[in-house]
Amino acid sequence: MKYNLAVLKGDGIGPEIIDAALLVLRRVEETFGHEFSCHFANIGGAAIDSCGEPLPKETLDICLASDSVLLGAVGGPAWDSLPSELRPEKALLTLRKELGLYANLRPALLLPQLADASPLKPSVIGDGLDLLVVRELTGGIYFGDKGTGEDFAYDTEKYYDYEIRRIARTAFEMAKNRKKKVVSVDKANVLASSKLWRKTVSEVHEAYPEIELSHMYVDNAAMQIATHPGQFDVILTSNMFGDILSDLAATITGSIGMLPSASTGEGRRGMYEPIHGSAPDIAGKNIANPMATILSLAMMLRTAFGLSEEAERVELAVRRALDEGYRTADIFSEGKTLLGTREMGEKIASLI
Ligand code: IPM
Ligand code: MN
Repeated sequence: MKYNLAVLKGDGIGPEIIDAALLVLRRVEETFGHEFSCHFANIGGAAIDSCGEPLPKETLDICLASDSVLLGAVGGPAWDSLPSELRPEKALLTLRKELGLYANLRPALLLPQLADASPLKPSVIGDGLDLLVVRELTGGIYFGDKGTGEDFAYDTEKYYDYEIRRIARTAFEMAKNRKKKVVSVDKANVLASSKLWRKTVSEVHEAYPEIELSHMYVDNAAMQIATHPGQFDVILTSNMFGDILSDLAATITGSIGMLPSASTGEGRRGMYEPIHGSAPDIAGKNIANPMATILSLAMMLRTAFGLSEEAERVELAVRRALDEGYRTADIFSEGKTLLGTREMGEKIASLI
């Protein structure tokens, strides 16, 4: 089969981690006889520098014409002083909206090989961590009415019930293949939008009697993730809360450099990217961890292309590289073998 892939390297460590992931993709191609045709396009700060805007129309068109999008990362200090409409991050938000990617899936899995990299005590980790943050991605305060006056500025958190309903369905569907538990996180004791969130999620839940649903306030959820992470299976939440809680969930698994994400909508086309950012401080040094991007690639193979065997092989290769003691700097510990970004990509590719 031939698959069309839009590849957006972006800024900072983006190009390095994508190049490493493409080594793995090429290996999958050879091993399984597929053809992945990659269409490269500019995004973020790199696009601002070359075309004067963070998401050139050509880039959006390439994404719309492809079966799926693989993204590195966007942003960096060079573009920090630009107004928000012109910032690299705006490209990401527009792309999510234009592609209709309302569901952001962020699995946080603690691999046993990296247990000692977690900042949590073994007693807190218990039997391990395996949770999935289902973050609403095209609504809420990120996209609500906003403005700035002489001495004020505001953003609006607004949700339509249809937006809540569809993301709730995603969470319940995901829970079916997991531990069948959904915790919906909101701030219903303060926010009107959260009250609607809670009511709507409960209504959608009626069609999923086999799934256990509970509700939690976001402040408590942050505390619970840090102190009793084992209680969570699927965490369903809004755009803003999901942004914050997914970083927290990622951190307790040892390194944010390990975690992939998928953004999907109604169709099969999705966007796949590591959950970490562009890490400008380590860009160009060949030291970033490409595993989150490689695992995002695996999610893409499975979800966008239905290639589950191929996806599993990629995930297995990542685990095997860890088993064999290979580490990038962020997860390095004594006695292990330190690899650079490219070398880790080569290693994982060779283990496919
Ligand atoms: C993320 C990022 C983005 C977000 C930024 C870069 C706009 O933090 O994907 O989590 O806030 O959604
Ligand atoms: Mn974030």
